[in-house]
Amino acid sequence: MRNAECGVKTTFRIPHYAFRTMKVLSGIQPTGPIHWGNYFGAIRQYIALQDNEQAFYFIANLHALTTVREREKLQKYTFDVALDLLALGLDPNKATLFVQSDVPEVSELCWLLMTGAPMGLLERCHAYKDKKAKGLTADAGLFTYPVLQAADILAYDSDTVPVGEDQVQHIEVCRDLAGSFNHQFGNVFVMPKAYVLEASARVPGTDGEKMSKSYNNTLLVFEDAKVQRKQIMRIVTDSRPMDQSKEPAGDVLYDLISLVASDAEREQIAATYRRGGFGYGEIKKALADAAEKYWAQPRARRAELAANPEYVRQVLGDGAAKARKKAGEVLKRAQEACGIRSW
Ligand code: TRP
Repeated sequence: MRNAECGVKTTFRIPHYAFRTMKVLSGIQPTGPIHWGNYFGAIRQYIALQDNEQAFYFIANLHALTTVREREKLQKYTFDVALDLLALGLDPNKATLFVQSDVPEVSELCWLLMTGAPMGLLERCHAYKDKKAKGLTADAGLFTYPVLQAADILAYDSDTVPVGEDQVQHIEVCRDLAGSFNHQFGNVFVMPKAYVLEASARVPGTDGEKMSKSYNNTLLVFEDAKVQRKQIMRIVTDSRPMDQSKEPAGDVLYDLISLVASDAEREQIAATYRRGGFGYGEIKKALADAAEKYWAQPRARRAELAANPEYVRQVLGDGAAKARKKAGEVLKRAQEACGIRSW
């Protein structure tokens, strides 16, 4: 169980009978406004999992502190993620939403795990390794980032961690740390599994590459509709002759339309591609219309929430109280097991 190597995968499909009994947890770093890729790649699925027996979602501000070093920005981004999730359908009566730093038990648990975390294991983790490879100096926060993430997961007896492919290595580290702690001190931690989110939907950016903040090609979920329309009109397309027919799948505009249009609209657009004799301008317009319609409700809801920050604070406060209760139990169990609380 030791020595999680890069690329080792612990993935599984949810058996249907178990779907509602999972103890789900995931964290979102507040590092800036969310884009379509974030929503279709992850957030939509977190929300779909909120009917489970336990659905804990937290805003990972302690992790974000390793990169966001401006006070106002970090505070704003943190609150914004709460607004975003609630506006997109996260239901606080089903899921527990909280801010990571509101549960200090996790940081204490992190230390207990740190004392048994092999340097070699952390040296192999890509965030740290990549930075070193580029000749940059890393700080201890980045180096021990996976240990805090392990504490996040183990503190709530989570068994299912929905994450993107890039986070699978961190879940492996978590399993390693939990396994060796359990081996030394008895059965303290529940062994979690990564639930790798399906990359079923391709979300291209405005340049046709994968949509990503670092490529500067994003469409933001909560963008002003007029601004977004302009961005859509500027999307780079190929220089196909107007009269030729074209296979829709794989085309940037078609792939984006597929995410936000109804099935009927999508099929109509697909037929237009196959028929040929259309201009990309009209497809862009159709995309902008579909996008405006698709995001209208969450945008309105977000504006309402933003006008009522007290409500959002209340949700986060209630979430933190619930999370602390659970984390307190697990921390106590871990402390007793390793002799920190056994007199
Ligand atoms: N590292 C995750 C990311 O960048 C965020 C995160 C922090 C997380 N703690 C977590 C995800 C615990 C899942 C479980 O996306």
